Amino acid sequence: MVLGMKVWLLRRSSSFLDDTCFFRSNKRVADKDSRQGQRYDDAEIRTYVERVHARHDEPLQQAFDAAERAGMPQIQVAPNEGQLLEVLSAMVDAKRVVEVGTLAGYSAVRLARGMKPGGKIFSLEFEEKHAAVAREAIAKANLDVDVEVMVGDARALLPSLEQHGPFDLVFVDADKESYPEYGAWARKNLRPGGILVGDNAYLFGNLTKESERAERMRAFHEEAAGEMVSVCLPTPDGMLVAVKR
Ligand SMILES: C[S@@+](CC[C@H](N)C(=O)[O-])C[C@H]1O[C@@H](n2cnc3c(N)ncnc32)[C@H](O)[C@@H]1O
Repeated sequence: MVLGMKVWLLRRSSSFLDDTCFFRSNKRVADKDSRQGQRYDDAEIRTYVERVHARHDEPLQQAFDAAERAGMPQIQVAPNEGQLLEVLSAMVDAKRVVEVGTLAGYSAVRLARGMKPGGKIFSLEFEEKHAAVAREAIAKANLDVDVEVMVGDARALLPSLEQHGPFDLVFVDADKESYPEYGAWARKNLRPGGILVGDNAYLFGNLTKESERAERMRAFHEEAAGEMVSVCLPTPDGMLVAVKR
């Protein structure tokens, strides 16, 4: 009789745990669907969370608008992703940061806003014009962090930065083919506990397709996962975040 009761209770509790959990007056407290990929965000929710967490003040808005004003491609990170960069740089108490891919300076301003006064960002940009527009936008943002925009191919510039390391954070947001090289450089030049952040980690939806570009992006993921503590956050185009052990 007692044994029968125990089996019944066990079955009952496991079926509770199996279900998309409703208990205590039918209020949903946990959920299997989201774990299997169902998304609950919609335009209204995204607008709300962006307004609460990632709202632009005037210096941020001018940096965000700088690419459009200068007739450059508007391919900067979105406000929520910019806020994520700010949070990450604050989380690792970043004092020395490398950014690969400056564009008009919006993400550099976001990274700088997460840092304490006196920090330094080296931001690498291939296009002279992008660098000039970025320098102006960064100056207007009144930062208390020094942002040095360096012009050239990041693959050629990175070795010259090794003397300034180790770094607290490396943000990669440039030519996608070179992500494995940028990842390897970051692993070598981050301090233990420092983080690698890579935007467009879904490769515009092509991450699992058959192409050399996709293979290289997969190598970026797999090498980070093999050697670091890593995750790929489900931002619209994926943001890889990995901590150096
Ligand atoms: C997506 S945009 C960067 C956006 C910027 N991180 C932001 O969110 O505000 C990519 C930039 O990387 C630059 N770029 C592309 N290949 C590069 C390379 N090999 N070295 C340095 N910069 C490069 C491009 O000129 C472009 O300005």
